[in-house]
Amino acid sequence: MVGIAGVIRLRSQLLCSQAVSLGLVNSNIINERMVQTVWIWCAVVLIAKFTAGLENGLVRTPPMGWLSWERFRCNTDCKNDPDNCIRDGLFRTMTDIVIAEGYAAVGYQYINIDDCWLERERGFDGQLKPDRQRFPYGIKNLADYVHSKGLKFGIYEDYGNYTCGGYPGILGHLEEDAALIASWDVDYIKLDGCYAHPSDMDKGYSEFGYYLNRTGRPMVYSCSWPVYQTFAGMKPNFSLISDTCNLWRNFGDIQDSWASIESIMDYFGDNQDDIAPNAGPGHWNDPDMLIVGNFGLSYEQSKTQMALWAILAAPLFMSVDLRTIRPEYKAILQNKKIIAVDQDPLGIQGRRIYKHKGIEIWARPISPTYQNYYSYAIAFINRRTDGTPSDVSVTLKELGLAYPAGYRVEDLYEDVDYGTLTPQTKIKVKVNPSGVVILRADVDLEAVYAQNNYTPFPVLNQVFKVNQNTFK
Ligand SMILES: *[C@@H]1O[C@H](CO)[C@@H](O)[C@H](O)[C@H]1NC(C)=O
Ligand SMILES: *[C@@H]1O[C@H](CO)[C@@H](O)[C@H](O)[C@H]1NC(C)=O
Ligand SMILES: *[C@@H]1O[C@H](CO)[C@@H](O)[C@H](O)[C@H]1NC(C)=O
Repeated sequence: MVGIAGVIRLRSQLLCSQAVSLGLVNSNIINERMVQTVWIWCAVVLIAKFTAGLENGLVRTPPMGWLSWERFRCNTDCKNDPDNCIRDGLFRTMTDIVIAEGYAAVGYQYINIDDCWLERERGFDGQLKPDRQRFPYGIKNLADYVHSKGLKFGIYEDYGNYTCGGYPGILGHLEEDAALIASWDVDYIKLDGCYAHPSDMDKGYSEFGYYLNRTGRPMVYSCSWPVYQTFAGMKPNFSLISDTCNLWRNFGDIQDSWASIESIMDYFGDNQDDIAPNAGPGHWNDPDMLIVGNFGLSYEQSKTQMALWAILAAPLFMSVDLRTIRPEYKAILQNKKIIAVDQDPLGIQGRRIYKHKGIEIWARPISPTYQNYYSYAIAFINRRTDGTPSDVSVTLKELGLAYPAGYRVEDLYEDVDYGTLTPQTKIKVKVNPSGVVILRADVDLEAVYAQNNYTPFPVLNQVFKVNQNTFK
């Protein structure tokens, strides 16, 4: 681990010294502030702590699936609303649709229950019991169904005395509940933090993680620990959290609105120095569910959420009624090119690198890499509301993309292939109000080989020079 982290740190260092040494020249939108943000980006990548993280072999890329909460909440009224209440059939139906409608084929894998699946009290044996009416066959039977379709199954509990919906929590029963959940063949557990003291969570979430591990069944461990501590005015210990959990919630619950997306965007941007370095294979920051296809977002805003979540290396949990979703929203959720950014194997979380007059640029280093150069996904987000698309123009070099032989650039929503662009090329994009343009810029290996038939390692020389400059 240390070796790899060392290499990554060295690579980042070289990347940044190149971006800076090549100079950051003028353009329509780039100014002092831009230069500053690139410097900050570099400094932060440089000092980033690449923590080892929890090693249970799971979620080497962010988990993807379907989760009931944002869309179906704690609807337990199966008498009056049988199609939309939290019960066995809802999860079987979503399992079927995830397969039949192509969601599984693009990577959505987990079918997860959220709150409100339990009886109000533990049984006489002290054990958790699923609601008898709504889950008449038990949880193991539902898990078996999901597994029989080739998908994975997740469930919800709470570290405190009660779940947020008032059902029994695990406090005082950590070991037996971990064992019971494992005996149901659960693959994923989200542990909420209502009715618990945030100051107990360092100990409590770690303890439950220990008991999960002791069951011997690999289960993804999703924690709500940092958000409860942050909201209580504490500073979460992310080193401990990423050693304990596979993913964790940093900020409040997502709601069905653009305002909610904006608040999450701002939180992740404003706090990226604390948050972003903790992400990596097996351990992820979680900005909460995708609400694409529900009631609150326009088409443009839905595209923005999907693109931003991919930049953030976020878990992709749809929370939408897959029975009635419109085709254009389904297409956003199934955009393979954006999913590939989210699932990039390097697992480096992206950052907001520019923010000025309602225009934001977010960038994420991705593969392929060549020597010390990364490829990038770049999202241009327009938060202006003045009603007409905004033009943004910038050179790749100004974004920190300095690979001399150039990048193969394509638009991930529109079918536009820009071909190979050098760092000096100015790109212009039109970004709709509350919309996004997301590009992918891959280091162009073919170009370097084609141009340099007789000098096989020109880039190495370049690196070497920068290296000399940096360490002289
Ligand atoms: C949980 O319940 C126990 C027993 O009633 C009580 O002593 C404890 O203070 C409760 N914990 C919290 C965090 O509310
Ligand atoms: C338990 O923890 C060990 C050590 O981190 C790890 O190698 C193993 O895969 C874990 N097992 C499970 C079931 O999570
Ligand atoms: C955070 O947790 C780690 C253990 O993973 C511990 O070594 C460290 O001292 C903790 N940091 C703080 C500030 O408590």
